[in-house]
Amino acid sequence: KTNLVIAIDGPAASGKGTLARLLAERYRLPFLDTGLSYRAVAQMLLSKNLPLDREELAAEEAGRVDLGRMDKAMLSLHAVGEAASRIAVFPMVRRVLVEKQRAFAQNPKGAVLDGRDIGTVVCPDADVKIYLTASPQVRAERRLAEIEARGGTGDLETIRKDIEARDARDSGRADSPLKPAADAHLLDTSELDIDAAFTAACAIIDKAL
Ligand code: C5P
Repeated sequence: KTNLVIAIDGPAASGKGTLARLLAERYRLPFLDTGLSYRAVAQMLLSKNLPLDREELAAEEAGRVDLGRMDKAMLSLHAVGEAASRIAVFPMVRRVLVEKQRAFAQNPKGAVLDGRDIGTVVCPDADVKIYLTASPQVRAERRLAEIEARGGTGDLETIRKDIEARDARDSGRADSPLKPAADAHLLDTSELDIDAAFTAACAIIDKAL
């Protein structure tokens, strides 16, 4: 086997983006943060002052998303993530974006993708599936540390509530809810730092190869 597809799923602020990026480097694979594609749709609607609750409008913007041209800095805003989880409930939007994500995963080398539905919907045949979790408290602390490292401020309690609300929306939706695939390896990082999480993930992957 010459290609390797690695699926990383998990809730908001679970550290999956950081882990997926490190794994892509380690295994020399292209990397796609699928959350950015939902964020890109939300950002386009927000910037055009269009409503977030119209499925056809959102699907039209989804058609315009270019996975190779997503500006991470602009899309990382909290409000954009919040809006992304609203348009991510629409099946028409998901159908359009999932098709682009699958095309990315078809790379002859393989790929690392991170998101909410990679192991369940986008790449059900992935070679390795990892589902990252951490308690809402730990995730909120990490998110706050990240904000403070960039010179910002935030309130831990508010961040934790936001994270829990986003989890509820992502897990509760009918189309492609956030949940571990039956064959995913669960990795709880509540008590692991990023180095330890990376080491654990590499052990899972190397065993599966
Ligand atoms: O991971 P990130 O916070 O960037 O994702 C933003 C939102 O996009 C999530 O809250 C979720 O609603 C949606 N999303 C999704 N499926 C994915 C990736 C993200 O529904 N594969």
